[in-house]
Amino acid sequence: MRFAGRIAVVTGAASGIGKATALRLGREGAAVAAVDRHLAGAEETAAALRNAGSTARAYACDVADSAQVAAAAQAIERDLGPVDVLANVAGIGDAVGTDIAELDDARWNQVLAVNLSGAFFWCRALLPGMAARARGAVVSVSSLAGRSKSANGGPAYTASKAGVLGLTRHLAFDYGPRGVRVNAICPGGVDTPLLRAGRAHENAEERSTRLAAYGYFMPIKRVSTPDEQAAAIAFLASDDASYINGVSLDVNGGLYMA
Ligand SMILES: NC(=O)c1ccc[n+]([C@@H]2O[C@H](COP(=O)([O-])OP(=O)(O)OC[C@H]3O[C@@H](n4cnc5c(N)ncnc54)[C@H](O)[C@@H]3O)[C@@H](O)[C@H]2O)c1
Repeated sequence: MRFAGRIAVVTGAASGIGKATALRLGREGAAVAAVDRHLAGAEETAAALRNAGSTARAYACDVADSAQVAAAAQAIERDLGPVDVLANVAGIGDAVGTDIAELDDARWNQVLAVNLSGAFFWCRALLPGMAARARGAVVSVSSLAGRSKSANGGPAYTASKAGVLGLTRHLAFDYGPRGVRVNAICPGGVDTPLLRAGRAHENAEERSTRLAAYGYFMPIKRVSTPDEQAAAIAFLASDDASYINGVSLDVNGGLYMA
């Protein structure tokens, strides 16, 4: 019950890593705001938590829209109270392929808006309040792509995830003195719809070869479960990580070591 009495916001809570994180934080005692652009999926996550005895509410929000983020943050603090934990998990892949020549302005802007600006908007909405209370933890989901380069996506995805790590370090420096820790995790392959969707121009055989390659190349011979990523997020968000600030934690089974 590391989060008893705490209020947690999880974006991308309708699916994959975000859903697993919302369930984990809720099971460990947090009151959870399950945020997603797909409200029905966020409602399902919140309902599962409520059925297990936790406090949880769902909020519809496109994290790429700063006005929607500001409104959702206000609604959450009105409904649940001051936020202690922010998990920026919502993200999209870069399904157009891997060649910059195929990457038009709209797709570049969309990937950056969701994966990087989304984390920026949520941090801007919640960090000042955390600092005023001298209590808070942010964990953003970057990627192995942010530490090296994307295995599945293209340059927009890699750039967006590297940007999340820069944002994390800068905010860790600015807000550490005010009692707020800011960290990131860098998953490798995780068994979620995002990983399975893969690339736009990929046929079924290429897709299964790509997924099998993870098992072949990884020192841990399989992709991660969403729960394994949620466990790392929960660790960094908890007081167990009270002296950890500004890190990019690799959670990739040893696929990329540095
Ligand atoms: N799956 C992997 O292998 C992998 C690896 C490294 C990093 N990641 C990162 O993990 C995070 C979660 O991905 P996942 O694999 O669980 O994918 P997923 O597709 O299962 O879940 C992503 C969730 O984010 C939500 N979302 C997308 N755009 C949104 C927006 N604009 N506003 C609000 N919600 C939005 C989706 O509706 C969905 O519920 C992403 O940031 C992704 O880049 C995933």
